[in-house]
Amino acid sequence: MNKPPNRRVLLIDDTPSIHDDFRKILMPAVESNQALDAMESALFGETAKPQAQVFELHSAYGGEEGLGLLTTAMAEKRPYALAFVDMRMPQGWDGARTIEELWKVAPDLQVVVCTAYSDYSWEDLLFRLHAHERLLILKKPFDNIEVQQMANTLANKWDMARRASLQTEQLEQLVEQRTQALQLEIDERKHLESQLVQSEKLASLGQLAAGVAHEINNPVGFISSNLSTLDSYFNQLQQMLEAYQHSEAFIAAQDQRDQLQALRTSLELDFLQEDIPILIRESKDGIGRVVQIVKDLKNFSRVDNDQTWQFANLQHGIDSTLNIVASELKYKADVVKHYAPLPDIECLASQLNQVVMNLVINAAQAMGPERGTITISNGVEDENIWLEVADNGCGIAPETVQKIFDPFFTTKPVGEGTGLGLSLSYGIVKKHRGDISVSSEPGKGTTFRVVLPIRQTAA
Ligand SMILES: Nc1ncnc2c1ncn2[C@@H]1O[C@H](COP(=O)(O)OP(=O)(O)OP(=O)(O)O)[C@@H](O)[C@H]1O
Ligand SMILES: [Mg+2]
Repeated sequence: MNKPPNRRVLLIDDTPSIHDDFRKILMPAVESNQALDAMESALFGETAKPQAQVFELHSAYGGEEGLGLLTTAMAEKRPYALAFVDMRMPQGWDGARTIEELWKVAPDLQVVVCTAYSDYSWEDLLFRLHAHERLLILKKPFDNIEVQQMANTLANKWDMARRASLQTEQLEQLVEQRTQALQLEIDERKHLESQLVQSEKLASLGQLAAGVAHEINNPVGFISSNLSTLDSYFNQLQQMLEAYQHSEAFIAAQDQRDQLQALRTSLELDFLQEDIPILIRESKDGIGRVVQIVKDLKNFSRVDNDQTWQFANLQHGIDSTLNIVASELKYKADVVKHYAPLPDIECLASQLNQVVMNLVINAAQAMGPERGTITISNGVEDENIWLEVADNGCGIAPETVQKIFDPFFTTKPVGEGTGLGLSLSYGIVKKHRGDISVSSEPGKGTTFRVVLPIRQTAA
C-alpha cells in the first residue's frame, strides 16, 4: 500500500506563457542539484537537505483538452492529484464548466482556480460547484511561492485523502469478513441447538417408549398366551358340542328334544360355533400387531440387547431386503444402485436390514401416481461407511421434518402407517453409534443418509 506520493499536476490555461511560468515553479531543473547534494553528503557524511518537491506537470490549453488528459490518466490508473484551472477561457468551456466536468471523472481531484477577474461572483462560483473543500482560489498575478505551496499542500492532501479512503475500504472489508464469520458461527450454533433439542426430545421419547413397552409387554404376553389356550379349549368344546348334537336324536322324550332345538335356535348356536374361531383369530392377529409395536418401541429405545454383533456386508443386506420388498416396489419405482466397494462392518445385521426396509418402503410410499426412482448409494468415509436412500417422491414439508423421527408420527391414512418406521430406524442407527439425517424438498424428493462406524470399538 506504500505507493509513492502522487505529484501529477494538470494545468488548464489558454495563455501559453502561464505554462512556462508554472513549469519553472513546479519543475525546476533539480537533477544537477540532486547530484551535488549526493556528492556533498558522501563527502561530509551529512544527510541531504530536504528538497522542494518535484511535480509532473501536464499542460492543456482549454477545458475540453484538459478533460481528455484527465480521462486518459484515469483510464491508465495514473490520476492527477490537482489541477490549476484558469477561470476565464474565452474559447470553449470556461473555468467553472471545466471544473464541473473534471469532477465528474475524478471527484477527488484538488482544484485551484486561477483568475485575474471572473465572470462570476465568488459566492456564485462556490455555490455552483458546491465543493468548497476541494477548491482553492489563486489570484493573478501570483507569487511563485504561493503556487509552490499550494501544489505541495494540495498534493499531500490528495495523498492523505486517498490513504484514508483505502484504509476505510480495508476496514469495511474486515468488518464484512468478520460479519460473515459471525453469521456462519450463529448459523452453526442454531443448527447444533436444533440438533440437540431433537436428540434430547428423542432420548426422552425413548425412555417413555421403553416404559410403555415394558408395561404393555406383560399383559400382552398373557393375553396372547390365553388366546392360544382359549383357541384350543374352544376346539375341545366344539368336539363335545358336536358329540352332544349327535346324541340328541337318541333322546326318547319329544318335548325334551324340542326344548333343546328351541334353545339352540334362540342362542344361534351354529353362528356362535362359526364366529367364535373367527373372533379368536382376529384377536390373535391384533395382539400380534401389538407385539410387533412393542418390539419396535423397544428397538427405538434400544433396550433389547439380545442380538449378537457380527461383521457383515451391508450391500448383501440391502440386496436381500430389496428382494423381500420387491413386490411393494414393483409398481411404484425403479431402483438404481450406486455401490462402492465396502468393508464388512460390525453391526446387528438384521436390524440394519430393517432400517433399509423402512427407508425403501417410505420412499416407495412417497411416490405419486407416476412411477419414480429410488437411488441407493453407499461409500466409505474415514472410519465410517455411509448409505443414502434417495427418492423423487413428494418430499417433506419443512415444518414436518422435525417430527418424522417421533414415534407414531405419520402422515399416512389410518391403517396404512403406524409412524414407527423412522423412529425405530433412528434407534437402531443410534445403537450402532451412527447417524441418520434427512434432506428434502417438497415436490422434488427426499434423501435419507445413514452413517455407520465400521467398527464398534467400544463394543
Ligand atoms: N421418503 C419419504 N418421502 C416423504 N415423506 C416421508 C419419507 N419418509 C418418511 N416420510 C414422512 O415421515 C413420516 C414418518 O415415517 P415413518 O416411516 O416413521 O412412518 P410411516 O411410514 O408413516 O409408518 P410406518 O413406517 O410405521 O408404516 C411419514 O408418514 C411421512 O410423512
Ligand atoms: Mg415408514
